[in-house]
Amino acid sequence: MTILVTGIGELVTNDPTVADGPLGVIPDAALVVDDGIVVWVGPATGAPDADDRVDVGGRAVVPGFVDSHAHLVFAGDRAAEFEARMSGARYDGGGIGTTVAATRGATDAELRARLAGLIAEMRRQGTTTVEVKSGYGLTVEDEARCLRLAAEVTTETTFLGAHVVPAEYAGRADEYVALVTGPMLDACAPHTRWVDVFCEPRSAHAFDGDQARAVLEAGRDAGLGLRVHANQLSAGPGVRLAVELGAASADHCTHLTADDVDALAGGTTVATLLPGVEFSTRSPYPDARRLLDAGVTVALATDCNPGSCFTSSMAFCIALAVREMRMTPAEALWCATAGGAAALRRPDVGHLAPGARADLAVLDAPSFRHLAYRPGVPLVHALDLPI
Ligand code: NIG
Ligand code: FE
Repeated sequence: MTILVTGIGELVTNDPTVADGPLGVIPDAALVVDDGIVVWVGPATGAPDADDRVDVGGRAVVPGFVDSHAHLVFAGDRAAEFEARMSGARYDGGGIGTTVAATRGATDAELRARLAGLIAEMRRQGTTTVEVKSGYGLTVEDEARCLRLAAEVTTETTFLGAHVVPAEYAGRADEYVALVTGPMLDACAPHTRWVDVFCEPRSAHAFDGDQARAVLEAGRDAGLGLRVHANQLSAGPGVRLAVELGAASADHCTHLTADDVDALAGGTTVATLLPGVEFSTRSPYPDARRLLDAGVTVALATDCNPGSCFTSSMAFCIALAVREMRMTPAEALWCATAGGAAALRRPDVGHLAPGARADLAVLDAPSFRHLAYRPGVPLVHALDLPI
């Protein structure tokens, strides 16, 4: 069945072949969907007939956001840790243990309900593709369980057994890495597309470059794609390791050297920026301009998690990217859609050219610019099409 979506005041396609500029913006547009796939876009005056019709009343339509970095399988919250940070405490990843304890103690039904609630919260705010990591189980059984639950809601599942060294392995990080790269990987590989590691040699809780390499190479050998939590708290080996191993994405990139930027510019790894984390940990923002001006492909994501950043709002991250990281509104929207799709190596999402999934986000506003222009206002939601 075909559906004509019409009355689009401004359509962002992210297809530079349909209109000038990377966003491929068509004013007064229409779009035809067939069986969940975009089959036609163009000016409304030239729209073909369809079986059904949805009129969005002059609103702007953009590709649904692609949130390529989120930690949504967990129990409990860490509002007290946030409050302490706002009084001067530093974030070092140590609070992850609190969420691990709560997650291990939760039932499947409790974790599933929390996860479904967050996915619905994201969809209400325009996010139509989301990556979901494990990383709060940190036993063979709990990591596999978290990934099984994640796989119920997304194909973009990520094994993050190497999030931190859990308390029962304190002082025995190499033994824990052997568990992660051995029995834990074996149990998790059937439920995950990606493997990730928190590479942060200066953190007492996370992993150094050699340990991160071991985790990534084991994941790669098991057929998984690679992602890295890199250079969040300090400059370190994470970004260069990600590029060297051909990771799809190096995430955070808060502290970058010139060598890191050169490596990203010369490789295929997307730099995923998570400005909600800098906001929520009161840290300096990454130098997005330097990355963009060097020609690096950049993605924006929420990093939604109970510790370093508990926002599910891509619109908020776009506003931060524009105000705090000096992106243009167009760059920020591209990074939150096509950039996220590149970070997940998903050619079917993040744009609205014919052949793409019909993942549409509608703004209660005439232009995509309002995403940053009206910060904190709930303007954007995912469009549910009649089937
Ligand atoms: O991406 N840095 C490591 N992991 C998460 C935070 C997880 C937590 O604090 O619970 C992040 O910031
Ligand atoms: Fe993260």
